[in-house]
Amino acid sequence: MFSTLIWPLAALASWAACWFLYRALLPQGALIALAAASVLGLALAWPHARRWRRLIIAAGFPLSLLASAQALLPAWAWLLPLLLLLLTYPQRSWRDAPLFPTPLGALDELSQQARLAPGERVLDAGCGLGAGLKALRRAYPQAQLEGIEWSHLLAAVARLRCRWARVHQGDMWALDWRPYRLVYLFQRPESMVQAWDKARTDLAPGSWLVSLDFEVAGRKPEARLELQGGRALWVYRI
Ligand SMILES: C[S@@+](CC[C@H](N)C(=O)[O-])C[C@H]1O[C@@H](n2cnc3c(N)ncnc32)[C@H](O)[C@@H]1O
Repeated sequence: MFSTLIWPLAALASWAACWFLYRALLPQGALIALAAASVLGLALAWPHARRWRRLIIAAGFPLSLLASAQALLPAWAWLLPLLLLLLTYPQRSWRDAPLFPTPLGALDELSQQARLAPGERVLDAGCGLGAGLKALRRAYPQAQLEGIEWSHLLAAVARLRCRWARVHQGDMWALDWRPYRLVYLFQRPESMVQAWDKARTDLAPGSWLVSLDFEVAGRKPEARLELQGGRALWVYRI
């Protein structure tokens, strides 16, 4: 939301938004207000490309709250945002991608390029809160949709949001991709070579590897679908 503002305006605006929410929710209880404002801080931090900026934005509110000693909380409560952060983003997730949801209609044209037979299995590798699964469902209503997510917390939320899909908690790189006809990813540019190698090893010829925003360097895609806002969907056939 504020990620387009110049630095450090983006950080100031984000901290102000966290404080605003905290103040507004304080009558509901200090812990609720703290948790909600910390989550907002995390959400506002993710869109930033640089890790240190994300850290500054996410940590700004809880640290300033601590410093201002305004929180009438038990001493251990300051650990709450840290716990939340670790639950939401266990360390391994950071290596691949922070939480960025796939926009709902982003995959609507995909089934015209990558055709699947009814009942074929589709994996969202790193399914986060399930937004990618929802977008895949619009594109492939007859497919068997599955997701895998490293964060226990995100996997649990995705399971609740996408009851029609199977959501596993685990490492997408350790999962066997062989049963899938299409693997969808929305990760980081750095993850794409590994994804391509794994897709070539695991997936059957004719299967599909689809990536939102990030291409496999040096590989010609079967298709590149233009999306709103200058974004793209990269479609590779194995
Ligand atoms: C950019 S989000 C995409 C979420 C979802 N695919 C979507 O498009 O809405 C990337 C997700 O991948 C997860 N992730 C990163 N590395 C992972 C790994 N090795 N195994 C499983 N999930 C991972 C992160 O926790 C995060 O939720």
